[in-house]
Amino acid sequence: DSTTPSFSFTPNPAPVSPERRAELMANPGFGRVFTDHMATVSYTEGRGWHDAKVVPYGPLSLDPASSVLHYAQEIFEGLKAYRTPEGSVVMFRPDANARRFRDSAARMAMAELPEELFVGAIEALVRADRDWVPSGEGQSLYLRPFMISNDVFLGVKPASEYLFCVIACPVGAYFGGGCVSVWVSETYTRAAPGGTGAVKCGGNYAASLQAQAESKREGCDQVLFLDSREQRYVEEMGGMNVVFVDGDTLVTPPLGGTILPGITRDTLLMLARARGLKVEERPLPIDEVFEKAASGQFSEAFACGTAAVISPIGKLRRPTGEAVFGDGVTPGALSLSLKDELVGLQTGRGNDANGWVH
Ligand code: COI
Repeated sequence: DSTTPSFSFTPNPAPVSPERRAELMANPGFGRVFTDHMATVSYTEGRGWHDAKVVPYGPLSLDPASSVLHYAQEIFEGLKAYRTPEGSVVMFRPDANARRFRDSAARMAMAELPEELFVGAIEALVRADRDWVPSGEGQSLYLRPFMISNDVFLGVKPASEYLFCVIACPVGAYFGGGCVSVWVSETYTRAAPGGTGAVKCGGNYAASLQAQAESKREGCDQVLFLDSREQRYVEEMGGMNVVFVDGDTLVTPPLGGTILPGITRDTLLMLARARGLKVEERPLPIDEVFEKAASGQFSEAFACGTAAVISPIGKLRRPTGEAVFGDGVTPGALSLSLKDELVGLQTGRGNDANGWVH
């Protein structure tokens, strides 16, 4: 495509050795190990997007007055590249991340990156660092596109310069394994109507950390937020969407502007419908969840997201009690089978009827 600038490539003069890379990739954890390169594209008002390049991974140099450090015009995405059984490398629905990234930019009054440039940057980086795509079960190369405002100016206004960057890290499971325990916060909320809850800006995650700390103090792995008006309805978790299983129906909160439109969420709802399962996207009172967990009607619950994939939830806790799904420790059958189908598709093993594999 002639509108897509090609990325110049400056190879890392001192890449990680193949032996050390193999060691790092054997047990990567999540988000601590980074590849040899990164992709960057700059934006200047009046000039547009320029200087598309893949360069050695390394520190960014920012003026201390750089606007992102003060007013937090920052957005990001998360997606993964997978090793197929044949050894090639595929991504899953990167166009959906590109669209959401544009929506995030628009909400944060940032320059909107053309979708082909978003996908082009990721492709260029994955090509350069394809040896870093792991092949172990549950492993992938996590890609982290992000954009920061970069004006040297302390006035509060949308910046005129931006830096788009993609970094990559081999990852394993986000959660340790088994079932996740979740604390329902009645102290903090995540997003208000008219706010930024539906976009992927760093500030949303900063604002979730104190609630996440509260959940840890309560002995849980993750936090679940309720709506900010009445604190009555389920919204989402610290960094992933939530779904409950009621017989042959998946029940999940609707996209109303205060929760992130998860691509994993969207994919799972489509897969579920294609299986003939019912899907209810509706306001879901937290009291209903506790009642239906107690009666056994809600037999399974899971968190879903790019990082989390599908992570079964064993129990929810709040100050007044506990909701247990199934026996509280064994992942539910439907959660597991949806996860198998999703991971199969993502790793190029499934029937890609929707053209999701890139
Ligand atoms: C994701 O990539 O799934 C995220 O939302 C980011 C974070 C929870 C690691």
